[in-house]
Amino acid sequence: MGLLATRRILLGLGGGIAAYKAPELVRRLRDAGAEVRVVMSAAAARFVSKLSLEVVSGFPVGDDLWSTDDARIVHTDLARDSDLVILAPATADLIGKIRHGLADDLLTTTVMAAKTPVLVCPAMNTEMLDNPLVQDNIAHLRSLARYTFLEPGVGLLACGITGPGRQPDPPEIIEAAAAVLADKDLRGLAAIVSAGPTREPIDPVRFIGNHSTGTMGFAIARALAARGATVTLVAGPVSLRTPVGVARRVDVETADEMLAALTELWPSTDFLAMTAAVADYRPAQRSQEKIKKTDASGDSAMPPTLALARTPDILKTLAARPDRSRVMLLGFAAETHDVIDYAKAKLVDKDLDAILANRVGVPESGFGPGDNIGTLVFRDGTFVEFARAPKELFADALVAALAPRLTHLARRSAHA
Ligand SMILES: Cc1cc2nc3c(=O)[nH]c(=O)nc-3n(C[C@H](O)[C@H](O)[C@H](O)COP(=O)(O)O)c2cc1C
Repeated sequence: MGLLATRRILLGLGGGIAAYKAPELVRRLRDAGAEVRVVMSAAAARFVSKLSLEVVSGFPVGDDLWSTDDARIVHTDLARDSDLVILAPATADLIGKIRHGLADDLLTTTVMAAKTPVLVCPAMNTEMLDNPLVQDNIAHLRSLARYTFLEPGVGLLACGITGPGRQPDPPEIIEAAAAVLADKDLRGLAAIVSAGPTREPIDPVRFIGNHSTGTMGFAIARALAARGATVTLVAGPVSLRTPVGVARRVDVETADEMLAALTELWPSTDFLAMTAAVADYRPAQRSQEKIKKTDASGDSAMPPTLALARTPDILKTLAARPDRSRVMLLGFAAETHDVIDYAKAKLVDKDLDAILANRVGVPESGFGPGDNIGTLVFRDGTFVEFARAPKELFADALVAALAPRLTHLARRSAHA
């Protein structure tokens, strides 16, 4: 089951150059579990073939307001039979027409007739996007609850200039679509997720690090944000894009920097998920110059001995704060053996509210973009087992298991 399992998506294509990406988007939406029907404007049909879209979606593509199928009115049926409309690319023209309630083709008529949420993905050249009329249309639609906008990306555009206006890639659109459809039961919850490794410098070019990629933490941040939480992501050095909906990202490098960032954020936090793989040790001394393998005379130098010092225990430090009980603390235990026993011991030792025990060092789970398997253990001894799943889905299941306790915190914050 994917992020959009069993959801019925109506994908509307405006006539922008990014329409050529639509077949890939349809395929990815279907991979995410959605049923996809496509409606395209006449201009869109100049950029992408109807046939490709029919083949990848598995349904006829709508492009004619005046066609009837067994005397049914196509645009009202399409509008009624969808859970979400995605407009990608949303051209300046399409946005303008919708803003003004115009409906002169199948696409605009369907949008006017639909009662579902609409995810709008503007894609156009930077000058068009910057045009005050376009901005005014976007601002007006944004003010209506039904329309959610996905910010266009910055990049090299078809017109040859680099700037904002690029249609985001399918994974971003899928995240945004899942977020639009998700229950907002965590609205009001201020959450922090730490993710990724830390790097402890040896000299200006070398460091002690670990295999963490940040994938799990980023997925949890996305899942929390999709349910309405205000999420700050504190990330070690990773090469991942900030998930859709995450309010703020703070990039850090060392364990000391991570502790400093979390300490600063702590006073306004209800929930901290500490997924980061923080180094336990750092070099006792950081060399200001690159350590050479030859000595001054050019001979091979003796291999240096690296003295190590403990890094701060971030969870323990935060758990020792006087206002500790205000914050729900979720720790993570990545172990290679006796996973649950070590996790329970860590929960008690660090004074956590819950811990996710997962297995590393086995092919199907652990570091990297693959799957995860784990057990969530609460302080009261209750636990939830999670079957093997891709990390995105694992994160949704984990947040769902935490939600009853988190909604309580969200309500408390809302009334504070
Ligand atoms: C080569 C080419 C590329 C275009 N790319 C875009 C674009 O990326 N975004 C946009 O808003 N309009 C773009 N346009 C202009 C639209 O195609 C034009 O405004 C059209 O009327 C849009 O119709 P629609 O909104 O019904 O699809 C482009 C036009 C051409 C000829």
